[in-house]
Amino acid sequence: MLKISNLGICLWLSAVAHCLPPDKVSAGHIIKTRSIDLNNAHGLAMETRLDRIVEPSGYKLDLEPYMEDGIFKGKVSINVTFLKDSDVIVIHCSHDLKIEKVDITVSFFDGHKVEVTEVTRDARKPIATLHLNKVVPEGSKGNLDLSFNGNMETEHTEAFFKTTYMEQEEEKIVLGTSFRPNNARRMFPCFDEPEYKVVFELSVVRPKNMVALSNVPVEKTTEIEGEPNAVWDHFEQTPPMSTFTLGLVIGDLKQVNMSVFKDRLGNNIELRVWGRTEYVPALVGVMDKILLVYKQITQLMKSPLPVSRLDFVALPNYQGVKPADNWGLIIFKESDLSSKGYLQLSQEILYQWLGSLATPVWWSDAHINKALVGYLAADIAFKVNGGSEMEGKWPMTVLYSIYYEFSKRYPHSRITGMKQETACTKIELLFRMFNYTLGAETFKKGLRMFIESRKFQSFTGDDIWENLNAAARTDSKIPQDLNIKDIVKSWIDKDRLPVINAERKYDSNTLVVTQKVFLRERPHDVPDASKMSWLVPIIIAREDRLNFSDTVPGSWLKDKKELAIKSMPKKEQFIIVNPEEIGPFPVNYDQHNWNLLSNYLQGKDRLKIPELTRAKLLHDAWNLAYAGDLSFATALNMTLFLKDERHHLVWDPVFTMIDHIGRHICACMQGKFMAYVRTLLTPLYEELTKNETEDEENWRKNLRTLTKNFLCQAGYKPCIKEAQEQYSKWMEAKNPDEGNPISNQYICPVFKWGTIKEWEFGLQRVINFPPSRKQSERTYLLKTLAGCPIEESKINRLLNITILEGNGNFTETDLFLIFSMLTGGSQGYTTLFHFLNNNWDVLKEKFISKTNLWDNLITSATSQFTTEQGLELVSNLYVAHQGEFASAEHIIEKSMRNIREEAKWSADNLPVIEEWLDAYLAKNGVKDESKSFFET
Ligand SMILES: *[C@@H]1O[C@H](CO)[C@@H](O)[C@H](O)[C@H]1NC(C)=O
Ligand SMILES: *[C@@H]1O[C@H](CO)[C@@H](O)[C@H](O)[C@H]1NC(C)=O
Ligand SMILES: *[C@@H]1O[C@H](CO)[C@@H](O)[C@H](O)[C@H]1NC(C)=O
Ligand SMILES: *[C@@H]1O[C@H](CO)[C@@H](O)[C@H](O)[C@H]1NC(C)=O
Ligand SMILES: *[C@@H]1O[C@H](CO)[C@@H](O)[C@H](O)[C@H]1NC(C)=O
Ligand SMILES: *[C@@H]1O[C@H](CO)[C@@H](O)[C@H](O)[C@H]1NC(C)=O
Repeated sequence: MLKISNLGICLWLSAVAHCLPPDKVSAGHIIKTRSIDLNNAHGLAMETRLDRIVEPSGYKLDLEPYMEDGIFKGKVSINVTFLKDSDVIVIHCSHDLKIEKVDITVSFFDGHKVEVTEVTRDARKPIATLHLNKVVPEGSKGNLDLSFNGNMETEHTEAFFKTTYMEQEEEKIVLGTSFRPNNARRMFPCFDEPEYKVVFELSVVRPKNMVALSNVPVEKTTEIEGEPNAVWDHFEQTPPMSTFTLGLVIGDLKQVNMSVFKDRLGNNIELRVWGRTEYVPALVGVMDKILLVYKQITQLMKSPLPVSRLDFVALPNYQGVKPADNWGLIIFKESDLSSKGYLQLSQEILYQWLGSLATPVWWSDAHINKALVGYLAADIAFKVNGGSEMEGKWPMTVLYSIYYEFSKRYPHSRITGMKQETACTKIELLFRMFNYTLGAETFKKGLRMFIESRKFQSFTGDDIWENLNAAARTDSKIPQDLNIKDIVKSWIDKDRLPVINAERKYDSNTLVVTQKVFLRERPHDVPDASKMSWLVPIIIAREDRLNFSDTVPGSWLKDKKELAIKSMPKKEQFIIVNPEEIGPFPVNYDQHNWNLLSNYLQGKDRLKIPELTRAKLLHDAWNLAYAGDLSFATALNMTLFLKDERHHLVWDPVFTMIDHIGRHICACMQGKFMAYVRTLLTPLYEELTKNETEDEENWRKNLRTLTKNFLCQAGYKPCIKEAQEQYSKWMEAKNPDEGNPISNQYICPVFKWGTIKEWEFGLQRVINFPPSRKQSERTYLLKTLAGCPIEESKINRLLNITILEGNGNFTETDLFLIFSMLTGGSQGYTTLFHFLNNNWDVLKEKFISKTNLWDNLITSATSQFTTEQGLELVSNLYVAHQGEFASAEHIIEKSMRNIREEAKWSADNLPVIEEWLDAYLAKNGVKDESKSFFET
């Protein structure tokens, strides 16, 4: 149920920066996607691993870049050990890298050599096979020497790349590397898998007027005979590390700042910030942020980073979505390093431990690492600046998105590539859950044990879970019959979440807890739903001893059986299960407990319940009502406390709910619903307007804009008046087609609540739109002309002129747009339906050869109904024209099936909603005034 047309969303939220409500935003949106970790992870997991023939134990790499020409040549000497008898060696080598048989030698430490007889390259895979003239026995150790040359990457800032920038009217070249996940093989032949962690000795030629930075400091610099302008930089030997963490930068960069971080934990590291001369001023102050974050992280990890120096480079024209997190050398996009926030910085520094020091064994494990880093980074960003860059909304936004996603009939069906991202978010939330349920100290202990046991090595998810489990055992923070791995498994082996039902037995002061899969959208016929269960921590906050810091679960719900918990408070006192969203799951209660909560939240002590929990109670109630698990009257009762609520976290989910319900209820109730929305939002909006200041927080601005938009949509008079006043400037303009002088935010309210004349003026602007102006402005106008009105006559006029009259100023694309906009509200699709019904023959004839348009018309006109009356309309049309639908026959049949499903929901819920709204409006002395707008 609750289908939402994509285009419609931005109408409700038109002037909002991010105009998608949380259920439409992919879960990872706060923490930028490390696209290479995830989007490619599937492909990478598929990548064939090298045969275990030889194993590297060290690289000596000499590199000569020719910066102007964008080419390089080099030599690599790899210490290898044969793991089995073999007459071939298989090594990663990108197709673009040239290697010649004559330039390859294989020699052994005992002095003998074997000859390379042939080099074959796999046509599809970046793999070279070196054929030897005899079988080398297992255990042999020696050197594999190769010379190679290739081109630098110039299109993208990945692999070994060259890019340019202008400084003081001079074009300058800068070189860099970004090898994650498997691009080292594009610079030199190597065993390019994260599991091989070995030392590197890098030497590189650089111009004398530039610096070369790599993972470790330069050990010595030597002159090149006959070359006055360049030198060799020989870097120290690195600690054992994976190929993807090797890094190099060569450029005309300035050291902005340097600071030595030293402490009693054994940390002793030089931190440096680099940038081009003109960018240095923007980087002032970055060091202070680094020091702040670094301190937090070292205290968390306890294990000092085994590099003597860590460079932060703002690289001109670096375009990677994410910084290149080489060990000891992090390469940022300039604006990323100079930005205000702490989240990304925390993340990048954490990757030095979780990624470089201990490394996921394969790319399929990278998402667990990412989840852990994501969780820790958010935690640190909260510690250092109260999470202000996330507006305090973490983990709410990510959490709510997975609530919506996992409760769909078909999770991830809409966006491919989203599965990995939500899986990662879920694991991030599990780390958060363990931080609460085991306690922060035990959680940290487990994390440190994990780092200690896996440093300089690679790890799998199990290594993390086992160490957390060991710490939990030691500290007795987990019941004997449970272990972390099993708990985690129950959460990650399915793309679903549970809903917990908490039913109080007031005569025996007992609480009975059960679980089932949380399904929000209908139908709820998910296969195996009855078999699914999770290991769920049951944490209870109770009114008689209100304490939100006690987060150790009293018990765990282990299976589908009932769990009875005794000694609950008295009948007059509420309980809250899963406060602070400790576990990622919603909770339902018996009606009496809901009423206790609703009343308490309307009382003077309401702030004793923290905002995240207040938001949860509201959000859970609405969503459970949607799912059909709770009466809407109870859910709507939970909104009553909003009249005094001023915290943006609590308000945040309200807009999504209004949007969802507003789309779902029939036209017959829209007026009442809008009156309710106005009553709900007006006090908040008025206060926000009074409090407006220049330097206010972002969340305040956003909340004001959001509130205003929703009020305008709901017919709030001051807003409509303002919009009409603004709009009149356009109507009075001498040449209105030259451009639109008013802000977009005013247009929809005018088309929705304004006069026919105003709307008609807009229509004429579309008709007369000069080709020289930006077409996106025309599209916006047309979208709002179709999507905003709630009066039939406006919509009919639009359909008449574009379809019946066949006005040549409208294209087929315009018709598609109009149809889909009309699906956004009940007035729209109902009018479209009647238009279709009344003009059947004409339309049939017009569109019969345009299958796509015809199908789209039938879909838009029939699929959105949600009530029994709607079903009747559509069924009558179907019967009247049976056999005439052609390609759209199955479409209308599908519409009828869906409406039947929706109509059940509507029959159950709409009367309840209406009755509640009536009582609410009467109590607040509000009339449903929406009609009066059209009468004047
Ligand atoms: C390669 O092995 C030789 C002989 O054991 C050793 O001297 C050299 O340092 C090693 N090189 C690297 C880069 O590990
Ligand atoms: C350099 O770092 C120090 C902290 O170590 C800080 O006090 C100073 O302001 C920084 N200078 C610049 C130019 O960023
Ligand atoms: C809603 O709240 C009112 C009082 O505020 C109460 O009388 C009513 O029973 C509640 N309805 C439901 C269904 O919980
Ligand atoms: C507006 O300011 C008043 C007085 O400073 C304050 O009590 C109130 O919480 C503020 N409202 C909002 C929504 O920030
Ligand atoms: C649309 O056209 C029909 C028939 O051509 C006419 O009866 C109706 O009044 C028109 N509606 C509008 C709003 O123009
Ligand atoms: C565009 O609309 C105007 C006004 O309705 C009309 O005169 C003109 O013929 C239309 N242009 C085309 C190409 O149909």
